[in-house]
Amino acid sequence: MQRIKSLSDYFKKYELSEKDPESFWSEIAESFTWKKKWDKVLDWDFEKVNINWFQNAKLNITENIFERNLKERGDKTAIIWEPNDPSESPIHITYKELYEETCRFSNALRAKGIKKGDRVIIYMPMVPEAAIAMLACARVGAVHSVVFAGFSSTSLADRINDCQAKMVLTSDGNFRGSKTIPVKPVVDEALEKCSTIESVIVLERTKQNVEMINGRDHWWHDCISEEPKVCESEVLDSEDMLFILYTSGSTGKPKGVVHSSAGYMIYSAYTFQNVFQYDENDIYWCTADVGWITGHSYIVYGPLLCGATTVMFEGVPTFPNVSRFWDIVDKFKINQFYTAPTAIRALQAHGLEPLKNNSLDSLKVIGSVGEPINEEAWHWYHDNIGKGNCPLVDTWWQTETGGIMISALAGITPNKPAHASLPLPGILPVIVDSEGNELLGNNVQGNLCIKFPWPSIVRTTYGDHQRCINTYFSNYKGMYFTGDGVKRDHDGYLRILGRVDDVINVSGHRMGTAEVENAINEHEEVIESAVVGYPHDIKGEGIYAYVIINSKSSDDTIKAEIVNVVRRVIGPIAKPDKIQIVSGLPKTRSGKIMRRILRKVASNDFGNLGDTSTLLNPDVVEEIINGASL
Ligand code: PRX
Repeated sequence: MQRIKSLSDYFKKYELSEKDPESFWSEIAESFTWKKKWDKVLDWDFEKVNINWFQNAKLNITENIFERNLKERGDKTAIIWEPNDPSESPIHITYKELYEETCRFSNALRAKGIKKGDRVIIYMPMVPEAAIAMLACARVGAVHSVVFAGFSSTSLADRINDCQAKMVLTSDGNFRGSKTIPVKPVVDEALEKCSTIESVIVLERTKQNVEMINGRDHWWHDCISEEPKVCESEVLDSEDMLFILYTSGSTGKPKGVVHSSAGYMIYSAYTFQNVFQYDENDIYWCTADVGWITGHSYIVYGPLLCGATTVMFEGVPTFPNVSRFWDIVDKFKINQFYTAPTAIRALQAHGLEPLKNNSLDSLKVIGSVGEPINEEAWHWYHDNIGKGNCPLVDTWWQTETGGIMISALAGITPNKPAHASLPLPGILPVIVDSEGNELLGNNVQGNLCIKFPWPSIVRTTYGDHQRCINTYFSNYKGMYFTGDGVKRDHDGYLRILGRVDDVINVSGHRMGTAEVENAINEHEEVIESAVVGYPHDIKGEGIYAYVIINSKSSDDTIKAEIVNVVRRVIGPIAKPDKIQIVSGLPKTRSGKIMRRILRKVASNDFGNLGDTSTLLNPDVVEEIINGASL
């Protein structure tokens, strides 16, 4: 794998990637295993959104993880699994063992009728079998769609139905901190609304009692017990779908972001290697969940493609106490540690006491992902966890980008607090104003677009290509629009300012305001609602809901019921932090809600509400300010 060694090397590679992207990427692609090489490196069209990398090449990503690594790294640990309860022993799985387990499960999938192109839902806790499930799908050419195990049965059913999945892989339950959470019953409830699922494979984890439906449900251990430890991999085309991952957008229901095989493979591996500057014997830990893109690219695919040792953690940072992350760092002598600003802020709030018994000396690189990291959290993380001598990589990217796009390269790019800093080679960011004019030079601020394809760019939104075109490629002609605001400072370093659309980022999780509103509106006494984000000390952004009700119940009762409805419809991550019952919402004469005003009120920023004279109902603003839930 090509490795960037210095800042001048970075600039050289960047220049090459800009001038001759095809040579740049094909040289990187050469270090992978192909069943057939490509005819052409790139064909693309941002208007119809037709992007074809490594045309007509054939491969299987799992051969690049296993067959390509086994000879040199067969006995090397691929995954270290740390269970929720620290008194339970961790598990070290070598590349050879992971290969064999993946093969056994791949055979089990085929035995249950799964073939190339079938969609398989993975709704599992953070156990090694979740990674094995992903890899086995990839080995047999099935398209996995991992659904975060905290999502509700309704969210799960929506995703199953959207991609017409044939199978669900799940567990009996999930250990999370001091709680044991049922998982299989959520699947059962979801499947009442789905007709495409033929079988469910259930991993035994918590050993709680679950109902197994004859003919449909099977235990994981039974499925693999007779299966051999080898399995021929399916031959895939470069552009064959590798996975679908659902993510919230500014409108309606989540979109199934589609990633393809070859481009995703190359980009996740290249960025892992270069951003974290992984060395052969390093132990790397990303604290994300495999239910999100960070878990896909930087717990499973990126590290395993590079032959790295990757840690998977089942639990939460606060159990059994708030030293847990740091205890794990010391226990496995973690060298690269990658987490989200929300976790940093939550742990920072406990002060330095929880760190007093930890050395953290093994750390070489620390990373941040998922939301803007504020300067205070940046310094706390850098000074107390990185002890002032670990590079901090603030990595900006998205589900749709598949891999890290803008980030310092550890130890190479000078650190600048709260700045994602510079684009990776092959990434051509542009800053545009609202009319789409490119803002050149330094000291400019606007909307972040990317003007050239990179190998792991989103290919489509599952089942609705037009939606992909409309969402990402229509706002600014000839460019991919990220939905984020950005500033290029006087040194040319980029600082991400957050979403400019109706997406809020709650603890690093993307939440479309429309999705939360739809959930709130399911309460039968709710007439209308409007949801906005507001600054939250720990979560980054909190969810503030303005709700009009038709009810005789007390406000407190209805607020509690609304929270429950959101939990039931989406899941606990989407529940509003604040709810204000209002008699009306500020609307323009054409009936559009003026969210700008609602955002200002929710942020306790009444001073400059802007022009309210065009409102249909200006009186409502006064009422909203007086009743603000601050
Ligand atoms: O707003 C940006 C924010 O997270 C969004 C992408 O969310 P998601 O698809 O869930 O992927 C999260 C993990 C890659 C972006 O549009 N975001 C992500 N990383 C950063 C960030 N904002 C600022 N700084 C970051 N490092």
